[in-house]
Formats: sequence, C-alpha cells, structure tokens
Amino acid sequence: MKLFDVYPINDINIVKAKGSYVWDDKGNEYVDMYGGHAVISIGHTHPYWVKRIEEQLEQIAFYSNSIKIPIQQKLADKLGEVSGKKDYQLFLCNSGAEANENALKLASFYNGRKKIISFSKAFHGRTSLAVAVTDNPSIVAPVNETENAIFLPFNDKGALQNYFEKNGDTVCAVIIEGIQGVGGINVASESFLQLIRKLCNEYNAVFIADSVQCGYGRTGKFYSHDYAGVDADIYTMAKGMGNGFPVAGISIAPHIHSKYFMLGTTFGGNHLACAAALAVLEVIEKENLMSNAKEVGDYLFSEIERISELKNLRGKGLMIGFDVTPELKDLKKNLLIKHHIFTGEAKPNVIRLLPSLALTKADADKFLSALREEISILVKGLPALEKVI
Ligand SMILES: Cc1ncc(COP(=O)(O)O)c(C=O)c1O
Repeated sequence: MKLFDVYPINDINIVKAKGSYVWDDKGNEYVDMYGGHAVISIGHTHPYWVKRIEEQLEQIAFYSNSIKIPIQQKLADKLGEVSGKKDYQLFLCNSGAEANENALKLASFYNGRKKIISFSKAFHGRTSLAVAVTDNPSIVAPVNETENAIFLPFNDKGALQNYFEKNGDTVCAVIIEGIQGVGGINVASESFLQLIRKLCNEYNAVFIADSVQCGYGRTGKFYSHDYAGVDADIYTMAKGMGNGFPVAGISIAPHIHSKYFMLGTTFGGNHLACAAALAVLEVIEKENLMSNAKEVGDYLFSEIERISELKNLRGKGLMIGFDVTPELKDLKKNLLIKHHIFTGEAKPNVIRLLPSLALTKADADKFLSALREEISILVKGLPALEKVI
C-alpha cells in the first residue's frame, strides 16, 4: 500500500530528538528552528512530559466522555491560571482545524447568525468551515465553498468598520490569527484587534482568536492577541498544547453557555492527551518558558535586524519571519543541507522561525552564525550545492 502523496518531503529520517535538537538515522545532529511546525513548545522529549505520559499510560489511556475524567478539570484549572483567563471554559478536541471548526459552530449557535469575517492570507485549517475561511482557494474543495465566508483586507480598519456598518447585524464571528503563520508571519496590529473587539461588542458578534500557531506562549504572552489588551470570546489552540501529542481545545468566555451535545468528539479530552497537555503547562510555568521565548526571541530579532540582506523582519517572541531576496533563494535549503538547521517557510519567499520556547541563547547563536555565513557565501555568488533536497 502506498502513502497518499500530499506532502513534498525532505529526504531525511529523524530518529531521535531532545530539546531543540534532532538527529537523523545517520547520526547527524540538527538544530530545530522550526519546532516541527510550531508544535514543539517545551522541547523535544522533555523528560517530565515523557514521564507524565508514561505514568498515565500505565493507568489508563482512554475512556469516553460519558464518564468523569478528573484530569480534564485539572487541565482546565492550569490553563485558566497560565493563560490568565480563569473564568473561561474549556472544550477539548484533537487538532487545530477541529478547534476552529468548533469555535465557528459555537459562535453560530450563540448568536444564530452565519456570516464569518476572515482576512487576506488567513489560514485556519483544512476541514469544511475552517478551510472556507482560509484565504487559499487551491485547498478549498467545491463542497467547502460558501457565501458565508467574507474576506476583508488584513489590518484594514476602514474596510472592517465599513463592513460592520453595512452588514453588522448579519455577522456571526470574526476570526483572526494574532500573528498569521502560514500567511508569512504578519502581525495583526493592536489597534485592529481593539477595533474587532469594539465592533463585536456593538453588534453581538463573536471574536475568535485563532491561537493555534501563535498561542501557547510562543510570542512571550500566552495568546499573542493579549498584546492588544483585549479579550477574545473564544481562543482556539492546538500545536504547542501537547508538545507533539495530538491535543487541541477552545477556551470559551463565560457569557457563552453550553448545552448538552452542542459540541462533541470521541477522542477529545482523553486521559493520555490531558496528561501530555498538563505536563506542557506545568513545564511552561516551572521553567518560565514564556519569558524565555520573549528574551531569546528579542535577542534573535535584534541580531537578525543587523543583517542588511534580510528584508522586512517581523514577528514577536519566538515567532519570527523575514523575506529573502532572489539572490538568497537557496538560503533555507542550504541551512538544512550544509548547516543542519531546520527552518520553516511561507510562500513565496519567507523564512519562518518557530523553535521550541526553551531555545537557549547558545542555540540561537549557532543558528545566527550559520545564517551569517551562508548569506555571505550566497551574496558572493559561490557555486550552488550539487545535492538538492
Ligand atoms: C493558525 C492556524 N490555524 C489552524 C491550523 C490547523 O491546525 P491543524 O493542522 O492541527 O488542523 C493551523 C495549522 O498550521 C494554523 O497555523
């Protein structure tokens, strides 16, 4: 049986991982500045996280949501504490798309409306409504197309205000990433997020903060939207929540009330996923990883800022992006092949950095010196690598 071929892959087999490092089957060590796509929050195979999962596995891995699962409440309590939103309510599911799907559905149950405002370059996942509010027609199947998805220009306050003034009574929700990830590390301005809050209040629409990639402490605050000083009605989260264990959730403001069976999932909130997610929050707290993300992120940012060949540097904490010019088009590939450093990308010409929140300054320096070296080689126009991944 063949694998269904949907991912263009690098010819590398990673067999071991620790902290901000991974190793391939030939024993080569790599610095992981990509965090396995923003998923590795507390560091690969963190010993506390491994132990917590092992201990839970010995007890019970799964039972359905038809019984009491006290570790769910423990997770909710810890999340309320670490995220600073103690009066919110937690619904657990399994992936980022599923979190957004549930958030959008819940918003529509809440106010009985259908129109969802999303923004240019937004990415919210690949399931039906999540992909419908994603600004990439090539991944929207005909069956996902809906006139309920309204796309407005990102960070354009006039366009948003105007839309609400004309159609506010029909708006169910506004969904926005605090920093767009797949779209290329585009930071939502604080005044834009504040306007969303104001208009959602005025028109009884639901403010959904997609924190799947930019959340969980990556930017130095638990939710990147927190920089704007306003609360969203629903936060969606996944990636960093389990440090690689599949778990996701939505954090729901107290004015949105639950009803039996309005949301549900078989696997969401299982014992094992909760143990993994709880371990992540405990480590974030114990090791001050949000402060570390801010500190090491600020350091990386200020050092990259000094490299004049890299353009349009942006981001917050350990979510950083910059543009590469055509002469540096091989930069990402060469960092991987020659220097054994994983980075992320966004089409057409953006390099994305999404390392573990536990990245040290020394790890950052390894990356920076390889970056400087490779840029100077590429700028001098030395021959390209023969071997291409
Ligand atoms: C902002 C954002 N929302 C949603 C998703 C979808 O998450 P998942 O792939 O877990 O379904 C992603 C994934 O990259 C994302 O970056």
